[in-house]
This record gives sequence, C-alpha cells and structure tokens, in this order.
Amino acid sequence: MRQKIVAANWKMNMYYMSGIKLISEIVPLIADEVKGDVKVIIAPPFIHLHSAAQLMYGSKKVFLGAQNCFFEEKGAYTGEISAAMLASLGVQYVIVGHSERRNFFNEDDVIISKKIFRVLEDNMQVIYCCGETSVQREAGKHKDVVAKQIETALFWLSKERMQKIIIAYEPVWAIGTGVNATPEQAQEMHAFIRSLIEKKFGAGLAQETSIIYGGSVTPVNAKSLFSCPDVDGGLVGGASLISSDFISIVKAGE
Ligand code: 13P
Repeated sequence: MRQKIVAANWKMNMYYMSGIKLISEIVPLIADEVKGDVKVIIAPPFIHLHSAAQLMYGSKKVFLGAQNCFFEEKGAYTGEISAAMLASLGVQYVIVGHSERRNFFNEDDVIISKKIFRVLEDNMQVIYCCGETSVQREAGKHKDVVAKQIETALFWLSKERMQKIIIAYEPVWAIGTGVNATPEQAQEMHAFIRSLIEKKFGAGLAQETSIIYGGSVTPVNAKSLFSCPDVDGGLVGGASLISSDFISIVKAGE
C-alpha cells in the first residue's frame, strides 16, 4: 500500500502569531479527528519552522516540511538557508521544483537537481513538483512537458534515493485559480508519471512512490481527486490556511 499524504504549502502567508495559532489548531484537530493512515506534512514559511517543530513534537501524523532551501552546503550566501539548517530544526521534507520558484526565481533543471541532491544528502525527503501550463496543455504537450521534468530532475537518482521522492503533480493552470484538474485529468497524468517511473526504476518502486495532486484542492473536490487510483493525496495551498478546511481535506485522504 502506498502512503497517502496530504501536505500544506502555506507559501508566503501568515505572520508570526497567526502562523503559530494555525499550527496550534491543526495539530490537535488531526490527532482527534484523523483516524486513517494519512501522513500530514506542513510546510510553513521559514519564520514558523522552529515553533512548528515544537508544536508538532511527538505527533505521529504531522510532519514538518520546508518550502525551499539553497543547494550549497554552507558559506557566504547572504539570505539563503541550507538543507542542513532545516534538518537541524527537525524538517523532514522539502518542496523542490514548485512552479512559483521556476517562474519567479528562474529555477531551472540544474538548480532543481542540485537542490534535490542536497536535500537527500541531508537525509530529508523531497516533494518534487511538476506540471504543465495551460498553453502547453492546450497544445497537447502536457505529457511531454511533465515527462521531461520528471526525467531531468529524477532519472539520475539511484533507486535507493528515488525512494525518498514524493512527486506532486501541480498543473500550473490549476494553482490558485479555483480551477482544479478534473479527477480524470489528474488520474491520467498520475498514471502516466507512474508509468515513467516504472520504465526507469521498475514496477516495485513505481507502485511505492506517492504521487500527490496540487492545484485548487478544496474540501469540496478533495475526495473525488484523492479517490483516483493513482492519486495518493494532495499538496494544498490556499485551503491549508483555514484549519477546518485543511482538516476536511486531510480526512478526504484517509
Ligand atoms: P492552491 O491550492 O492555492 O491552488 O496552491 C496549490 C499549490 O501550489 C501547492 O503547492
């Protein structure tokens, strides 16, 4: 059985006190209300990582993620945060390859691969994001685009390291737009991604890899998306900022 995962990507939201309040609400709600075997990852902005680590301490269901890190080990890189720093705080997952970082920060395949290497070196897991734009989908190129993203970022990894990768399919046109992929679109792409992994790494690893969906996931659409056979949960932006909505989405992944 593949691990079901619901991850929260807060992006650049929540001030210091409001962030602490949100995590303080989410952790006990998950302990009380979520009975099934779904792993919850919360990736708040860096300023919240320390408090979040303390508030999650001892939880068997909720784990700490970060939204980014730098690819160098340490040194004179003003403003950057290393993977080892994150690991030292108790971070276990790092999001890499998010379309917002590809677009706004020009992160290309080389940068993304270096970040993946560094996160794995520091014994954390990667949530690797891929997904096409609306123009690419309309041109019928969505599978080619995603295949290239998967191949360049992941196919150089050893089988052992590939086991530390969670894939998030996030069609760019669905992120923050209120227009989610239909369950059929999500299932088609997730099955395609799994087939790519199978060809490269074998059926066993392909069956074990969690492939989660991101892009306008809400309490209303979560169940239908997460019920698709190859959709193993979600990566949630906007709806992860409201505790009751996020809990409903986590429960849809049970
Ligand atoms: P939204 O859920 O706000 O569409 O964001 C999805 C996302 O980008 C998660 O990483």
